[in-house]
Amino acid sequence: MKAREILNRYITFFEKRDHKRIANAPLVLINDPTTLFTSSGMQALLPYLLGEEHPSGKRLVNVQNCLRSQDIDEVGDNRHTTFFRMLGNWSLGDYFKSEQLNWFFTFLTDKDVGLGLDPRKLYVTVFSGNEYIPKDTESIAIWTQLFQEKGISAKFVELGSQENAYQIGMRGGRIFAYDETKNWWSRAGTPDKMPVGEPGGPDSEVFYDFGTPHDVSFGKECHPNCDCGRFLEIGNSVFMQYQKQADGSFKELPQKNVDFGGGLERLAAALNDNPDIFLTDLYKEIITKIADISYKSYEDKKYQPPMRIIADHIKAATFLIVDGVIPSNKAQGYVLRRLLRRAAVKMYQIAGEEQITKLTEVASVVLRLEETLDEKLSIKKHHELISTVIKEEIEKFSKTLKKGLQEFEKNIHRLDEVAFDLYQTHGFPIELIEELAKEHHKTIDRKKFDEALQKHRELSRTASAGMFRGGLADHSEKTIMGHTATHLLHQALRDVLGKHVHQTGSNITSERIRFDFNFDRKLTDEELRQVENIVNQKIKENLPVHYELIPTEEAYKMGAIGLFMDTYGEKSKIYFIGDTSKSYKNAYSIEFCGGPHVEFTGVLKSFKIIKQENLGKNQKRIYAIVNNDQRNNNS
Ligand code: SER
Repeated sequence: MKAREILNRYITFFEKRDHKRIANAPLVLINDPTTLFTSSGMQALLPYLLGEEHPSGKRLVNVQNCLRSQDIDEVGDNRHTTFFRMLGNWSLGDYFKSEQLNWFFTFLTDKDVGLGLDPRKLYVTVFSGNEYIPKDTESIAIWTQLFQEKGISAKFVELGSQENAYQIGMRGGRIFAYDETKNWWSRAGTPDKMPVGEPGGPDSEVFYDFGTPHDVSFGKECHPNCDCGRFLEIGNSVFMQYQKQADGSFKELPQKNVDFGGGLERLAAALNDNPDIFLTDLYKEIITKIADISYKSYEDKKYQPPMRIIADHIKAATFLIVDGVIPSNKAQGYVLRRLLRRAAVKMYQIAGEEQITKLTEVASVVLRLEETLDEKLSIKKHHELISTVIKEEIEKFSKTLKKGLQEFEKNIHRLDEVAFDLYQTHGFPIELIEELAKEHHKTIDRKKFDEALQKHRELSRTASAGMFRGGLADHSEKTIMGHTATHLLHQALRDVLGKHVHQTGSNITSERIRFDFNFDRKLTDEELRQVENIVNQKIKENLPVHYELIPTEEAYKMGAIGLFMDTYGEKSKIYFIGDTSKSYKNAYSIEFCGGPHVEFTGVLKSFKIIKQENLGKNQKRIYAIVNNDQRNNNS
């Protein structure tokens, strides 16, 4: 079965069970300063999991492009990638554990409507409980019955921590309980890491058994969460029913949700009965292309890690570019740069400098494969943009590579001191540095390097955790004000510059608003002043802000503006600024948006544009601040 068929069957299966398909959200979420990238389908659904009404109802299904940049160092084995596709279904306070586990098991095992996997190869895990939340005995009972119906007696084994699990092992079990490090899900991770107000809950995972022999270098005994490669997690049902409280305890959410996510690549690997996801039809042609360019064979084990890294990174880069990211030294742009440079270094290592420029050909294969997966996801029209961005970045990188090599030659006598700098500044992986050092009969103090690397990783981890928390804490007034200001700014820009101007992105923190739009030249000072004046005028008028759920067609007819991402929903959430009690035509701004917003524009007090930036042809960026006369500006 091809990946396309898996995807179609999954969507159809849940549509038949009254789910509405919702669109794939962009990899960089609009108006969400809390995370760098969309890393699961639930992220775009947060307000609805917390109780807000979703325009498409209580049962949703989708396929979501995801990027987990924190996994970048993991890529190279047979199953980790930074970019992947998550199949997701949700119950927003509707069905719960019994329906979810039944349906997913049916989807996995039924050969007519699902994937027809052998149930004897499936193993499941549940939450073992902690001081606040009891063991998930309900899921244990449901799974026991589901396996029994297939004639499989399902023994339960309590494993607890990962450490214990390596001691205890399988014990002939089918259902296993692990602690919160394995069977608890929230965006922030384990319960102690969750900020106040964050939703989360116990989860139940399904693993596929490839039956490969256990590798004891990972631990004494094998178990579903063992990293030796015998088991692969193929789906995770999160029972999102709790919310973190200020005293560290948990309160039940007003509604019990299901948040399911399953990796398409991994399901395809399970169907192949081969743990290497790079051999599924989602990657095979990409690998073939890399083999052609590098004149190396994927069968040769030593070339597998670099080829997988190139395949994943170019795929991830392609989708980031489609979603508007350009290489830079900051945030999302930095991750894109790292992905491209790492792919280039790997290509350099296996095939030499000449072949680096051919990475654009790998991107072309990524695009072609997309067409075969789902025409709704078509990204072919971006072909030129993707090639240009990759080409430019690779050219820049070739120069750095040369500089890095010179740096290397110059510092050959003190390699230990410069090794980490070569890694960090020039993107040289340690293997490349080691290889070059051997060529010169030198060695690198690996321990020293690993220590520096560890420190660096911890720093960047803290930085992204900070971003996550900072953002959430920021769902305070100031960020919400900034959000409303972007709607006013959007409309004001159209008033001054013309109706062809529209938003292409935005990012809001408590400190400032960043707003991107299409326009082909620099705005004059006069135009900037006009825009600013209009927004301030609308703030002074203290206009009411509210939303309505409106049939999407009708919203278009009303002239609602926005990013038009949702092409599946029948109804859309539309925000109005202005008094629409007599007619919607009295609104100053009508926009497709998920919210949240302030209730009256007056609370914004003031609006000021602080700078404009040129992002390239036909792309401009404006930075602005609101309410800057508020004394506690950084609240
Ligand atoms: N949010 C869960 C996950 O990422 C399920 O969608 O695994």
